[in-house]
Amino acid sequence: MLVQEINSLKGEKTTAVPGGVSFSGDWSTCYRVNFWSRIASRVLWRIASFDYKSEQDLYAAAKAVDWLRHFKVERTLRVNVTAQKSPLKSLEFATLRIKDAICDRFRDQLGRRPDVDRADPDVRIHAFLEGARGTLYLDTSGEPLFKRGWRHGVADAPLRENLAAGIIMLTGWQPDQPLLDPMCGGATLLVEAAAMARGRAPGARRSFGFEKLSLFDPASWQKVRKEEGQKQPNLQLFGSDTDPKALNAARRNLAEAGIERWVQLERSDVLERAAPAPAGVMVANPPYGERIGSPEELARFYPKLGDALKQRFAGWRCYIFTADLRLPKLIRLQPSARTPLWNGALECRLYEFRIVSGSHRR
Ligand SMILES: C[S@@+](CC[C@H](N)C(=O)[O-])C[C@H]1O[C@@H](n2cnc3c(N)ncnc32)[C@H](O)[C@@H]1O
Repeated sequence: MLVQEINSLKGEKTTAVPGGVSFSGDWSTCYRVNFWSRIASRVLWRIASFDYKSEQDLYAAAKAVDWLRHFKVERTLRVNVTAQKSPLKSLEFATLRIKDAICDRFRDQLGRRPDVDRADPDVRIHAFLEGARGTLYLDTSGEPLFKRGWRHGVADAPLRENLAAGIIMLTGWQPDQPLLDPMCGGATLLVEAAAMARGRAPGARRSFGFEKLSLFDPASWQKVRKEEGQKQPNLQLFGSDTDPKALNAARRNLAEAGIERWVQLERSDVLERAAPAPAGVMVANPPYGERIGSPEELARFYPKLGDALKQRFAGWRCYIFTADLRLPKLIRLQPSARTPLWNGALECRLYEFRIVSGSHRR
């Protein structure tokens, strides 16, 4: 899905690689992908690749980069190192050596070095060490892209915005169809669905790492920003939850995102609520043992959820996103699709159930 999304944003040589997608393009493509990608977490610019055996090799490879071309000495920086099967013993020491190399390069040329700010750096540098191969990237996103700037209300176990957007895309929901999240928590899925339908750029309310880089081109950034057009679809969005605190968070988030007028929120139990329309798309992210809800509670809940869907949601396509792989057995409905997804390190599934009265009963 990310390959498709990046292609639609004019990325070139787009290829799926483990853990991400690689692509090429000019700066406006970089700005556009940061501004518009609903499912990427970060856009990293590859600036060096090298073989290494020791921390000293990392130091030499990092020192060989012309950092002064990339950012000013006044900028603060942070280095992150991720490693897989690396021969190095300490990632902390590796991080330190790369940071030293960058600072020494500035000091050699300017007599001054940039400061480190781990909490809120201007410039983030990522090193990936895979076996004996190292790659350095400059982070063009800054804060991860799932931080869109609308989340002010905090409910339990919220989905990341980019995962929520990906789930909505996978459901195939179209803006003219009713969409219900009957366990809506802070309403992440509804906010992302509405943003997509209205053509709102996910990055419209935030800043980006590329704005702090020396090669930043404000004129082409302004051009990319102007590509945002507004659609005014007639949305039918519905959210409900049993927890009043979650509903308060949802209300706040919907207001921040400017979509409260399109969403009908109510306090109700998914096991009792009626379908808001004769047909539509339901998407739910029930609590799962890992974060909230014990495994025993959930084992009692799923069969009841299956009954509720069957009794009240005939004509609906229902999607359940969960890390609980017991769900299809316990819900006693036959999933028509199951898509593996990762929620951070947690393996999950998006199950699709097409509810037709009288059929699909196990
Ligand atoms: C994992 S959270 C959903 C998070 C949400 N997707 C978000 O991103 O903010 C699960 C939600 O289900 C709600 N819930 C639990 N049991 C419920 C029930 N029987 N009916 C409706 N909501 C329920 C909880 O209050 C909680 O807000």
